[in-house]
Formats: sequence, structure tokens, C-alpha cells
Amino acid sequence: MKPKVFVTRPLPAEALDLLAAHCEVQVYPSDSALKPPQLAEACRDVEGLLAVGVRVNEEVLGQATKLRVVANCGVGYDNIDVAACTRRRIVVTNTPGVLTDTTADLAFALLMAVARRVVEADRFVREGRWQRWEFGMMWGADIHHKTLGIWGFGRIGQAMARRGRGFDMRILYHSRRRADEALERASGARFVDRDTLLRESDFLSLHAPMTPEGYHLIGGRELRLMKPSAFLINTARGKLIDEEALVAALKAKTIAGAGLDVFEHEPHLHPELAKLDNVVLLPHVGSATGETRLAMATLATENLLAVLQGRRPPNAVNAEVLNYSADTQSQVKRQRTKA
Ligand code: DGY
Repeated sequence: MKPKVFVTRPLPAEALDLLAAHCEVQVYPSDSALKPPQLAEACRDVEGLLAVGVRVNEEVLGQATKLRVVANCGVGYDNIDVAACTRRRIVVTNTPGVLTDTTADLAFALLMAVARRVVEADRFVREGRWQRWEFGMMWGADIHHKTLGIWGFGRIGQAMARRGRGFDMRILYHSRRRADEALERASGARFVDRDTLLRESDFLSLHAPMTPEGYHLIGGRELRLMKPSAFLINTARGKLIDEEALVAALKAKTIAGAGLDVFEHEPHLHPELAKLDNVVLLPHVGSATGETRLAMATLATENLLAVLQGRRPPNAVNAEVLNYSADTQSQVKRQRTKA
């Protein structure tokens, strides 16, 4: 009998076909987030959950007694209670790698858009407010030869550094773990402490994962350390920034502007943000290209199938569950052989 799998949103046919070849698949038909009570109901009887933009918490897991794998379609997995999954020996997987360049592209697009006032200028033209060419019109800030600060130097942070180098930027980074020398040399990025990063960056781009320590990484103190000419870019997670403090800094021009793809309470915006001209706001579309969404869906499917078929998934987040399973299995085998 094929194992039952629940998919929380419609995915590209290629990924669903692959899944359907091996599993009995049920797909939630709407591209909106199922709430935990409904998700719990849908997961009662399944062995695999392909989670796309949903919260998987105790409420869901408590009822999903047959669940063996939660395959998250996304690199960030702060939507999943990994500790609770681990306690229940449920494998959690994510989709790193396939969205690195796409997300870095968008971070750089935000950086350019806010520095050169692209969205504001587009609005100006569309609204018929452009009467004549003016020497003093819509001055923005240069990007080339400026300092790009990168907070979080994983795959996406490193991809951002590569883009910055293409613009002859000086690259600084801060990260929980310092990169090895070879990587620093190859990426042309220099490790600095947090405050130096804040003080010296003309553009500060966030690429840190959302962990409890990351909550409000950027607050009033950090914003005050930044240059009044600096721009803050966030394509990582909204809760890394204290949005109230950011709005105050943008209004007071303590910093020059911000490019945001993620928000503290998304999809709800801070009411003041949309009133400001020195921000560019996007609806969490960092990895939203056709190629990358397909790659994410395919990788999530491969992860899920691997676990259900007893293979090691390419991207386990809580690998200890796999080791436990392997140890337990061999223990059981040993005991059986002895008997
Ligand atoms: C990710 O992959 O983490 C994106 O933000 C989509 O959730």
C-alpha cells in the first residue's frame, strides 16, 4: 500500500506527479495558509507532510500520530517546531541551495531599487507628475564602490557578496561563525564584529536565520549605530528587525532607507511603512521565480520520498532522528540475530 501524504498547497505538476508515483497524495486546493487546527485534521492519517507556508506546531503534531516526515518547501524552517518533531522521531527537511542565487538576486534588486529610487520614480512617471527634465531631480545614492555589509554568511549571504563584488563594493560580513580563510579570500569579504558592521555599512543586508537569538537583531540601538546615509535590506525574516524602531528611524532619517521583502507580522504591514517614500516593500517573493519554485517543490518531494522509502534525505534538519532510526534499526536487527 502506498503511504499517505498531504501537500498543503498546489505545487507544480512535475513535483506532484513524482509524489503520486509513490504515494497516495492529497493536495489542499488553495494557495493560502491552512491554520493549525485544519492542518491537524488533514494530517491525522498521513505519513508524510509536504509543508508549504504553514505552521507545523504541537497542535498539528499531537494529532499526526503516523507522521514520519515533514518536508518543508523553503530553506527557512522557523515555521516548524523542529524540537517537537525530533521528540516524536519525525524527520524535518528543508530546501537549501536551490534558491540561493534567486534570493540574492532579489536582495540586490531591492538594494538597487531603494538606492536609486526606482519604485518612487516609476510612480512619479505613471502618475503624470513628470513635467520636464531637471538636473536636481530624484537624486539617489551610488552603489558601486560603497560598503556592503552582510549579516549572516551562509549560502545566500555569500551569493550577495558575489553580487557586491561585481559592483566593485567593499564587502564586510558578520556571522555567528567566522568563515574559513579560503572562503573569505574567494568571496573578498572581511569578518567584522556586529557594531563595526553597523557603523561602516552603506548597505546592510540581512541573511541570518530566524532563531530565538535573532529576534529583533536590528533594533533602536543598532539603527542608531548605522550611518544616516545607510540602507537596510531584509530578504531573510521579518522578526529579525524591530519594525517599530525601523519606522521611527526611517521617519527621523536616522538611516536613509530600507528594502524589505519580509515583515515582522506579515502579511500585515506596519501602518506607517506604506506612507514612507524611502522604502521599497515586497510581498515575500525572494525565491519566487518559475525555475526556483519548481526546484524547491522537486527537492521537497525528493526529501519526503527518501524518508518514506527508508533512504537518507538530501536535506535533513534534525539528522539525529535519522541516526536514531539507523541505530535503533541495527539494534533491533542485532537483537533479532541473537534471538
Ligand atoms: C524560504 O525558503 O525560507 C523562503 O522564505 C520561503 O519561505
